Amino acid sequence: MSRSLILLTLLLVLISAFASASPHRRHRSRAPHPRLSSVADPISPDVWCLTFATDESDAEPIEIEISRALAPLGADHLYALVNEGFYSSPAAFFRVVPQFIVQFGISGSPELNTKYGNTSILDDPVVASNTIGTLTYATAGPDTRTTQLFINFANNSFLDSQGFSPFGTVVNGLNTAINVFNPTPNNSDGVDQGNYTQFGQSWIEQQYPGINSITGAKVQTGSCAK
Ligand SMILES: *[C@@H]1O[C@H](CO)[C@@H](O)[C@H](O)[C@H]1NC(C)=O
Ligand SMILES: *[C@@H]1O[C@H](CO)[C@@H](O)[C@H](O)[C@H]1NC(C)=O
Ligand SMILES: *[C@@H]1O[C@H](CO)[C@@H](O)[C@H](O)[C@H]1NC(C)=O
Ligand SMILES: *[C@@H]1O[C@H](CO)[C@@H](O)[C@H](O)[C@H]1NC(C)=O
Repeated sequence: MSRSLILLTLLLVLISAFASASPHRRHRSRAPHPRLSSVADPISPDVWCLTFATDESDAEPIEIEISRALAPLGADHLYALVNEGFYSSPAAFFRVVPQFIVQFGISGSPELNTKYGNTSILDDPVVASNTIGTLTYATAGPDTRTTQLFINFANNSFLDSQGFSPFGTVVNGLNTAINVFNPTPNNSDGVDQGNYTQFGQSWIEQQYPGINSITGAKVQTGSCAK
């Protein structure tokens, strides 16, 4: 292949990767938005530290400092999800797009998905920017945030104008997130979200040997210890 053809191919691969690479809960070509019922959550602390343990070997936990002021409804909902045990079952990193994002927040427990996956919160205005290490909800359109989140691996500030409202920053363990196993290196959409939602952890572990998951989450009031 000539050098220019290689470059063109690379460019096309990059363009196609980004064309479909918005942190949407489902691929856009899929059916109508799920029917969601809206909830209001108790108010969370102004600042709190979220720790995700993972099954990645020799990796430090991912610690994320949440600032409620940046996206109050999003912060309150995640605080409630953690406290109610949404992460009491493993939750896989089911979509990894190098240099872009890692997406997670479907439970390996179909029961927990049924309980929490159909309940949405209203949008928060975008106050912060989707820069490297920030935590943001994935959506399927306006007012459809449920349980899915992503961590930005780059300065993805182009997402700000699309309504993606960051509300936390990874302060420890960003490399843990960056190094998770990529189940679909040739597909920026990640695994089939419907199948993982429905068939759970045994399905994803069988389909994608080497998959990494969140194995627990805890919250603490105040800043993360540095
Ligand atoms: C919504 O609830 C239905 C059962 O009522 C369940 O099959 C489905 O997986 C849930 N949706 C999500 C996104 O978890
Ligand atoms: C992110 O990128 C935008 C657009 O290029 C730029 O204006 C902004 O300063 C960048 N932010 C950081 C933290 O690098
Ligand atoms: C991804 O694509 C490359 C190049 O086409 C191929 O060699 C590789 O086996 C593919 N990997 C997977 C997991 O499909
Ligand atoms: C999802 O599950 C359906 C039903 O079992 C199956 O036909 C389909 O191949 C699965 N898709 C993927 C990508 O695993």
